[in-house]
Amino acid sequence: MDRHASEIVAYYTFRYREDQRLGARPQARLERTRTLELLRQALPAPPASILDVGGGPGEYARALVALGYRVRLLDLVPAHVAQARAGQPGVAAEVADARALPEEDDSYDATLLLGPLYHLLDRADRCRALTEAVRVTRPGGRVLAAAISRFAGPLDFAATGRLDDRMVDEARVLLTNGANDPSIGFTHAYFHRVEELVDECRTAGLADITVDGIEGPAWIAAEAAAHGPMAQTVFDAALRLARVYRREPALVAASAHLLAQGTVPDHPPQTGRNTPDPRP
Ligand SMILES: C[S@@+](CC[C@H](N)C(=O)[O-])C[C@H]1O[C@@H](n2cnc3c(N)ncnc32)[C@H](O)[C@@H]1O
Repeated sequence: MDRHASEIVAYYTFRYREDQRLGARPQARLERTRTLELLRQALPAPPASILDVGGGPGEYARALVALGYRVRLLDLVPAHVAQARAGQPGVAAEVADARALPEEDDSYDATLLLGPLYHLLDRADRCRALTEAVRVTRPGGRVLAAAISRFAGPLDFAATGRLDDRMVDEARVLLTNGANDPSIGFTHAYFHRVEELVDECRTAGLADITVDGIEGPAWIAAEAAAHGPMAQTVFDAALRLARVYRREPALVAASAHLLAQGTVPDHPPQTGRNTPDPRP
């Protein structure tokens, strides 16, 4: 395991409770609600087989199992895999790296990558993870990959009254460099522009690529209102606008998270599929 991967394992094992994230802040509740809605719209009908790569403690995997899907979860962090197995309902789960999936070619109807792309700093590694997702998904199947928007951090700090001089400087840096500075918060991470995410999906061989903004443009209003009397009203409004503006190009990057979707073509041009050895 390389140094960045080891640091991500240490972060999620000792410093951050991922299993408590999605119920906490308005941003996270919007992320959960909208991700589930988008998955239900995009995935083939149950009992389709789903590979959830970077599935964490299994929040989405459990919801999909409850809907009748056959789900297998893979994650870099052993503690997340243990939580996914121990949840209700339990999920079949193993430790694995998104860049080298221990799965056969064409073996799933859809593959989710809701986490690994924003923890891989190098474009080549992100394309490798996407290429692996394409490889294990059958032709005509779907790959859905989440990214964190380039602008999420500064917008979050502004909405929650934490935008100091250092964060303004960081906002300037982020205009040209998507690598997170872990000394400000989070861990090793990469924050995408929409066009980079599309380019990486295309490089991996996906067709019919679309990108949704997950939380919508008003998530920052919900964060700013979180502790006041209008909290629920503003949250509900943010959720409604997230649905309306899900693919509006002028607003997609204002979401905290982006969700790319694409179809695996019959003959993907650049995947790592096994090809017959041409030697006699
Ligand atoms: C923020 S969590 C997201 C969990 C869940 N998919 C969700 O959307 O709520 C990011 C997850 O990606 C996993 N991850 C990061 N890099 C990975 C890699 N190279 N291979 C597999 N999993 C990875 C982390 O261990 C973590 O569980």
